[in-house]
Amino acid sequence: MQSEHLHVVANEPIGPYRLLRLGRSGLRPGTPGQFFMLEAPGRVLPRPFSLCVAPTRELGFLVDPIGPGTHAIAGLEPGDAIRVTGPLGKGFDLAVSSPLLVGGGIGIAPFPYLSERLGRPPALLGFRTAHHAEAAALVPNAEVVLDPTLVTDALPAEPGDVLACGPEPMLDAIEERVAGAQLAREAPMACGYGACYGCVVERDGGYARLCVEGPVVRGGTAGSPTSHLLCAPTSREATAAAGQSPAPTMVARASEEGQAPSPLSSVEDGTS
Ligand SMILES: Cc1cc2nc3c(=O)[nH]c(=O)nc-3n(C[C@H](O)[C@H](O)[C@H](O)COP(=O)(O)OP(=O)(O)OC[C@H]3O[C@@H](n4cnc5c(N)ncnc54)[C@H](O)[C@@H]3O)c2cc1C
Ligand code: FES
Repeated sequence: MQSEHLHVVANEPIGPYRLLRLGRSGLRPGTPGQFFMLEAPGRVLPRPFSLCVAPTRELGFLVDPIGPGTHAIAGLEPGDAIRVTGPLGKGFDLAVSSPLLVGGGIGIAPFPYLSERLGRPPALLGFRTAHHAEAAALVPNAEVVLDPTLVTDALPAEPGDVLACGPEPMLDAIEERVAGAQLAREAPMACGYGACYGCVVERDGGYARLCVEGPVVRGGTAGSPTSHLLCAPTSREATAAAGQSPAPTMVARASEEGQAPSPLSSVEDGTS
């Protein structure tokens, strides 16, 4: 694991997303599906991002500005510097004979680099709107479907070696349909290297830190054991109301609009 201050080379709009291109300095791009922790200006904790593009002297990240950290990162300008740590975690297994990339929304972020490393295999990408689908231009050989059509509706009968990234329901549906599919999953991550246990998910009857054993996994992984707190009052509020000591707060993704406060935002309230 390496950590360096990288400088912004460019920040380009792609549909509703931003492609943030950073000078690579001494950082390695790693394996597609691995991730980097990017400092979020004005916030205490960094945020995890998949590497999207890896030209010779750059590392590029596709950013969906959905909250305070991603908004701060999406607002960086050429010449700005941020600390970047990585590559982290386990990426995709590239030893596949008939790859098919299957992704949805911002989940296509690791595919441009993955496609390059796999020799531009076919891809099946799903988006909510045509505006979001502009990001498909980053992925060669892509077939695009728009809501209400789902990528799982368009999966071929014999999909081959599926490598997938996207929302949890999409990954769950693929896991049911395609045995052995490689799935890049997500969980809230505060450290990115195994120290905070914020990314623990249920896996094979036990628990695993997704930042160490993933984010790319094959089957057997359910969501965060604290996801039942989604959209509910935070555990801190609930326990305070019950007259107990507050417990650590954990709230998972509610929806992209009308979000519940996130664990990271909760930690950072009052400090930024
Ligand atoms: C391994 C990994 C790779 C990622 N790669 C990318 C990427 O390439 N591009 C990109 O735009 N985003 C990526 N993300 C998601 C990104 O890290 C989060 O959107 C970001 O941390 C949110 O921070 P925020 O302060 O903007 O929003 P917050 O206020 O922290 O969160 C906004 C909402 O999203 C939820 N949320 C936050 N982080 C996650 C998460 N990791 N999983 C599920 N729900 C979450 C919150 O609970 C809240 O509802 C990745 C996440 C992981 C774990
Ligand atoms: S993000 Fe800290 S242990 Fe995984």
